[in-house]
Amino acid sequence: MQKQPGHDASSGTRFGPELMARLDALAAFTEVEGQLTRRYLSPAHLAAMRQVEAWMTEAGMSVRVDPLMSLFGRYEGKTPRAPAIMIGSHIDTVIDAGRYDGNLGVLAAIAVVAELRERGERLDHAVEVCAFGEEEGSRFSAHILTSSALIGAVGPELLEVRDADGITVRQALARAGGNAEAYRDCIRPRGEIAAFLELHIEQGPVLEAEGKALAAVTAINGSVRSVVTVKGFAGHAGTVPMGQRRDALAAAAEMILAVERIGASAPGLVATVGRITALPGAQNVIPGRASFTIDMRSPSDAVRDRAHAALVPALQEIARKRGVEVDIDTYQRNAATALDPLVIDAASEAIAACGEEPLRLPSGAGHDAMIMASHCPSAMIFLRCRDGISHNPAESITVEDADLGVRALLEAVRRLDARLGVRPSGSDTVAPTLDCGTASDPEGLTPANRGNS
Ligand code: GLV
Ligand code: MN
Ligand code: MN
Repeated sequence: MQKQPGHDASSGTRFGPELMARLDALAAFTEVEGQLTRRYLSPAHLAAMRQVEAWMTEAGMSVRVDPLMSLFGRYEGKTPRAPAIMIGSHIDTVIDAGRYDGNLGVLAAIAVVAELRERGERLDHAVEVCAFGEEEGSRFSAHILTSSALIGAVGPELLEVRDADGITVRQALARAGGNAEAYRDCIRPRGEIAAFLELHIEQGPVLEAEGKALAAVTAINGSVRSVVTVKGFAGHAGTVPMGQRRDALAAAAEMILAVERIGASAPGLVATVGRITALPGAQNVIPGRASFTIDMRSPSDAVRDRAHAALVPALQEIARKRGVEVDIDTYQRNAATALDPLVIDAASEAIAACGEEPLRLPSGAGHDAMIMASHCPSAMIFLRCRDGISHNPAESITVEDADLGVRALLEAVRRLDARLGVRPSGSDTVAPTLDCGTASDPEGLTPANRGNS
């Protein structure tokens, strides 16, 4: 691994040094030497799972793997089979990632359970640590697949999505020891998880600018994801005059600028083209086919949907002018999600109990918490990262902030334990105090809504 900016390991914080050392150790599980790339079901992911499982076991948890290869470590409460407070995040990464996105939340959650166990402290609730396998969409376009499976929002069509090598999720699972056929066994009955709390780096610059370490997250922006395919006509780069070409890549370039223009047309709206391919991909051939992705997000579903709808005629007009065909496949919509006031308050009070002034922030990035929020009361704690940099190997946090993150998560779990009523697990209804009727909108979380639109 290349040396990445990180922390001063000599600082004398209780949880920070070990957490940072483990984050460094986990970053060694990569598909690509010299960078951190750990995509879902890759050998690096499977090896990282084994390491995380070992840490969960060492912290006193019983560990199970679900059919889609998420890991769950369970620390029982005072009574067996009590509903669980779930904490954790994901362990897949983007390509050429930083080491804290997702991984911080998983390893900090393990540190919380290790501390409870060391103190001999059992709660009324069980505590479960999740290490979701697929959140980033960096291998398959079906992103946030594994928490979606937990809430029952995965349909068989998502298992047929292919990676760049043509391998389906179903095939990749079979090779990795998972079981696509049993995807419905990932579902956790309502009531079994009393609350979900995810610690995550902020991935933005607000905390640092405000001089604060931690924030309670109030809401998560919605997103829509599409793949655009442009069909032109391949030809000889030396012989076809410029005026007679139907160049798919040049048309895609003009379309991408339209995406950028529309993405800048409303406050809070963002649009990104993160991947482009051109075929046949030769220096001396006019591209006959091009495709690119669109990721569009906004705190307002209405604003985002209006902007996305405006893209269609804009791209079609460019296609018409250039004599090419365009197809827009919108494969995923996630609604903007308001997080749960009870869990937000617990997070906020926990931050204050750690001596920090708690900010409240919305999230521009997507997270497993936005999926979990339609299943049980959910919220997040954001932790400051240097210069707001994320999805980049330069991601960096301090050992002191890492320490605070564990403390705040532990405090929040204790507060949730005290405030959430405990019902016997296995009931598929939810006690009034656990009612999942948060302000989150389930649109986009059902298999039907996750299909093309
Ligand atoms: C996840 O990192 C996302 O917001 O794309
Ligand atoms: Mn993440
Ligand atoms: Mn990410």
